[in-house]
Amino acid sequence: MSAFILAIDQGTTSSRAIVFDRDGVAVGQAQKEFRQHFPRDGWVEHDAQEIWNDCLALCRQALRNAQVEADQLAAIGITNQRETTVLWDRATGEPVARAIVWQDRRTADYCQRLKQEGHEDLVRERSGLLLDPYFSATKLAWLLEHVDGARRRAEAGELAFGTIDCWLLWKLTDGRVHATDATNASRTLLFNIHGQHWDEDLLRLFDIPASLLPEVRDSAGEFGRTDPRVLGAAVPVTGIAGDQQAALVGQACFQPGMVKSTYGTGCFMVMNTGAAVHSDNRLLTTVAYRLNGETTYALEGSIFVAGAAIQWLRDGLNLITHASETEALARRVGSAGGVYLVPAFTGLGAPWWDPHARGALLGLTRDTGIAEVVTAGLEAVCYQSRDLLEAMAADCAQRPTTLRVDGGMVVNNWLGQTLADVLGVRVDRPRVTETTALGAAYLAGLGCGLFRDLDEIAEHWQPDRAFEPSLEEGERERRYRGWREAVQRVCSDNR
Ligand code: G3P
Repeated sequence: MSAFILAIDQGTTSSRAIVFDRDGVAVGQAQKEFRQHFPRDGWVEHDAQEIWNDCLALCRQALRNAQVEADQLAAIGITNQRETTVLWDRATGEPVARAIVWQDRRTADYCQRLKQEGHEDLVRERSGLLLDPYFSATKLAWLLEHVDGARRRAEAGELAFGTIDCWLLWKLTDGRVHATDATNASRTLLFNIHGQHWDEDLLRLFDIPASLLPEVRDSAGEFGRTDPRVLGAAVPVTGIAGDQQAALVGQACFQPGMVKSTYGTGCFMVMNTGAAVHSDNRLLTTVAYRLNGETTYALEGSIFVAGAAIQWLRDGLNLITHASETEALARRVGSAGGVYLVPAFTGLGAPWWDPHARGALLGLTRDTGIAEVVTAGLEAVCYQSRDLLEAMAADCAQRPTTLRVDGGMVVNNWLGQTLADVLGVRVDRPRVTETTALGAAYLAGLGCGLFRDLDEIAEHWQPDRAFEPSLEEGERERRYRGWREAVQRVCSDNR
């Protein structure tokens, strides 16, 4: 059997396609940033048609770069920015409006109203999520309400809803398959994660016609074949997962208690819990992956601003010209010395969930300089990670002992060490940090029989470097207390 797998990784700011060989080595890739639309304060939209056109071009480019023909592919895997909501016409395959992105806050008041009416318990119990604009349901409800004729057409069965994976699958199969996987479904607020089906009460609550919804399948298995006109061959799509779940797979976190954290624009920490764990600490209960009809669950904490804080130091304040300078600056001063940057630019995510909080820089003295402020930006990423880890430990009555990290920021060795120091756990960085695309490739490999099982995949994981905590316990706690006080100062209700 041919042993190449093409992974499509459709992210929030860029799309990429990577051809992997059987050993998980990338043999060809292509990447492209695409346009972000900000029509109003707090609104974020993507052109789904542009995303599809880009992905198709990138797949072709990656195959050319790898010198692999489409008919040499064993399978395709898809991974994607989650929650982003696409609504399209089943007959023409054209979106009826721009996609509403997960970061979009336009439905904050709607969520607040539903909360005040006392619906959050039902939502949490069934979907594992919270009533927050982050998830798909209120975005879809908004489209049905505001796009001319959308509700009528939806009720007549003319429209289809999907997250980005589902949209790409529809296009790859030329409209023959309308399906998603359980990880993506679990981010919509409409999916009953325990029964693994669309939940009628939630559909009623958000007033969503069931005819819009895709079929929900396992994360590995045949979803359909690409239309031969698309890539030049009928290639099976055999793996789909949301990007954070795909990273969990790419990091081979298959045992309960294993945790990965991805540091990109934001940071998403996901712990494999095996069975579903209800969070008393405002983390999300979500599907880690579903294989052979068996669901593995996870707890997730989402931080909205991680690398974005460094971008702000670079582009907003011009304190640095390149992110790579942060490591040398932090090494020079060692620590931010009591300066705290709380990057609540768009509110705070887990475990605070405060959309009205705003950022702050605290603890400045006469000798605070650029290096301290930049270091405070890096430390904020570590402290926020600790907030999540504490919440996970409290929910599971067990403290994780290691954290597997990936994403653009983790090339910074100072950050790796400080993470270990602030968290008090070992931080493992793998050799391959493209874990999201790799996870999609692994799932596709499982789905097409290239890999036997998860154990075989786990054998591929290789460490690059481990960071052991070295900060004295008292100092660790003193610094973290300072962070908690800083967060309290920015929370809207000063909780
Ligand atoms: O939940 C949103 C997340 O899936 C986005 O990830 O990497 O595209 O920013 P990313």
